[in-house]
Parts: sequence; structure tokens; C-alpha cells
Amino acid sequence: MSRDARLQILLAPIEWPMERMREELGVLLRAETPSVSDMVDHLGRFRGKQLRAALVLLAGEATGNVTDEHPTVAAIVELIHLATLVHDDVLDGAETRRRVASVNQRWDNQVAVLLGDFLYARAFQRSTQLSSRLCSSSLSETTQVICAGEIDQAAGRWDFEMSQERYESIAGAKTAALYRAACELGARYPGGREELGHELGRFGWEIGLAFQIIDDLLDVVGDEAVVGKTVGNDVADGKVTLPVLHTYARADEPVRARIRDVYTLPDLDDRATRLREVCDLNPGVDYARARADELTQSALGRLALLPESSARSALESVGNFVLQRRW
Ligand code: IPE
Ligand code: IPE
Ligand code: MG
Ligand code: MG
Ligand code: MG
Repeated sequence: MSRDARLQILLAPIEWPMERMREELGVLLRAETPSVSDMVDHLGRFRGKQLRAALVLLAGEATGNVTDEHPTVAAIVELIHLATLVHDDVLDGAETRRRVASVNQRWDNQVAVLLGDFLYARAFQRSTQLSSRLCSSSLSETTQVICAGEIDQAAGRWDFEMSQERYESIAGAKTAALYRAACELGARYPGGREELGHELGRFGWEIGLAFQIIDDLLDVVGDEAVVGKTVGNDVADGKVTLPVLHTYARADEPVRARIRDVYTLPDLDDRATRLREVCDLNPGVDYARARADELTQSALGRLALLPESSARSALESVGNFVLQRRW
């Protein structure tokens, strides 16, 4: 089954609102200025998995909280995600995104930063037009958390002794926070229903953290052709992620020294391949996968409070997809 087909089946209960979300996203990705228009067209053409938007809609359906504005909220969440990707590729010096050249690669870093800003501003502008402030307040707070997570990650580069707690706090901030916001907004928008929203938010947080752990695995052991984006970047950029932290913590000093060298010696190319050569990453990979599994199981357990429905089953499937994904 093709990569897209599996997701399409899984998201069948929200086929129609997803279509409306895509239309709205298409409108949000229009720009008058020709040079900007080229760039937003590029982003609109090569779409990703749209999981965060899907979670807004599924969380709404599964909790019986469906409004006309849900597809717009979902599109705004997806647009914020897109802005984080454009900036992230500048920060990480990544060349490929969604199987094509990243914005910074196709244009340059300067305009990529500005395009990211443009997308954030557009997302927040649209959110101010909604009938409730919940979307703008939740996403403005979440955006700060994401930026703080990225800054904290930069501060922790080449820290081979980083605790798992700190690793998870960074991964949580930069990735799980938006998953949490997506699920919470779906369940709560336009307001009220705090307890239910928080529980769905916890589901989103755990799924999001599992998602980032799997992403970090794919960066060290994934196949670039399948993943569709630059891999090996974390090693090249000094990010010591969970599989490596676990491997390092259990290695003897000679192996540790080789791992540090692979990360830090100047002018090395293909550091991720070298990393796989100087140590056995498998136990670290297994450990990280087990942690992602544990988080996902905990998240799925939270869905028991919802009545049975096709949307609830789809939320479960998204959880399992996150664990099994190769892209
Ligand atoms: C990539 O997210 C960024 C991370 C948080 C790891 P996705 O893998 O969901 O990106 P797209 O939208 O499908 O391209
Ligand atoms: C995700 O981290 C950061 C964002 C929240 C955008 P990564 O830097 O690992 O994401 P990818 O691997 O480039 O998609
Ligand atoms: Mg990146
Ligand atoms: Mg990054
Ligand atoms: Mg990554």
C-alpha cells in the first residue's frame, strides 16, 4: 500500500472536513507579491502527512464537539506547523523536505526566515477572525513553547550526558506541544469542556513525544529516500538524541570517545554513517522504540473515556501509525 493510501484509509471518518481544511489552507497559502507567491506555492504543492490538522478534526468528532470552524482551526494548526518546518530547516541546515528542496535550499536562509515569519503572522491573523479566542490564545502560547524548545535544544548540543528527562522536555516542547494543542483544541474549541480537553491534550502530548522519538530514530537509522527529508542531520548538528544517549550511557570509555569524535572532529562527512560504524546503536534504537511504545500505549489508554466511534478508532490508528511510520 502506498504511503498516502494508508493514511487516507485511516483518516476516512474525517474525509470531508479534511477536504475543507485543505481548501482553507490553500487560501492561507496565497500571496500577492509574486516572489512570495512562488514560495507559498511550493509549500502548498508538496504537502505532508497533515497529522496535526487531522488530530484537531478527529478529537472534535470523537468528543462530539464539531463546529463549522473546526476545519479552519485545523488549517491554522497546520500552518503553524509549516512555519516551524521552514524555520527548522534553516536552523538545521536541511536540504530536503517532503522529498523536494527545502525553502532555504531552493531560495536562501534569509528569505526562508522571513517566509516562516510570514506564515506565523498569517496563521495568527486568521485566528483573530474566529468567533472564539481559544485558538489564538492556545497557539500563541504553544508557539512560544516550541521556540523555547528549539532554543533549549541548541543550548544542549554535544551534551552526551543529557538526562532523558531533559531530552524529553526538549522533544516535548518542540513537537509534543503542538500535538497537545491540536487535540485539546479539537475537543474544546470554542471553549469550556476543560477536563475533557486536558485529557485529550495529554493524549496529544504523549503521541507527539512518541512521534519525535521515532523521528529521532529515523534520523539515525532511516532511509532518506523513504523518509523524504535530510537524515543524519542530528549527528551532523550536535544533537544527541535518545538512541545515542542510551548507547553512550552504556558504552565503555573507548567507545564513548569514538562517539564524541564522530560528533565533534572537524571536517567529517556523513557523521551518521560513521556513528553506526563506531558503536552498536541497536540497543539504543530498541530502547527509544520501547519508550515511544510506552508513551503511545499510555495515550491510547486515555481514549477509554470516550464513547466508541469511528473517530475514536481513527485516533487509535493515528497512535499506531506514529509508532510504525517510516516517513
Ligand atoms: C516533521 O513533522 C517535524 C517533526 C516534528 C519531527 P511531520 O513528519 O509531521 O512533517 P510533515 O508535515 O508530514 O511533512
Ligand atoms: C522537529 O525536529 C522540530 C520542529 C518542531 C519543527 P526536527 O529538526 O527533528 O524535525 P525534522 O526531522 O527536521 O523534520
Ligand atoms: Mg530538522
Ligand atoms: Mg530541528
Ligand atoms: Mg528530525
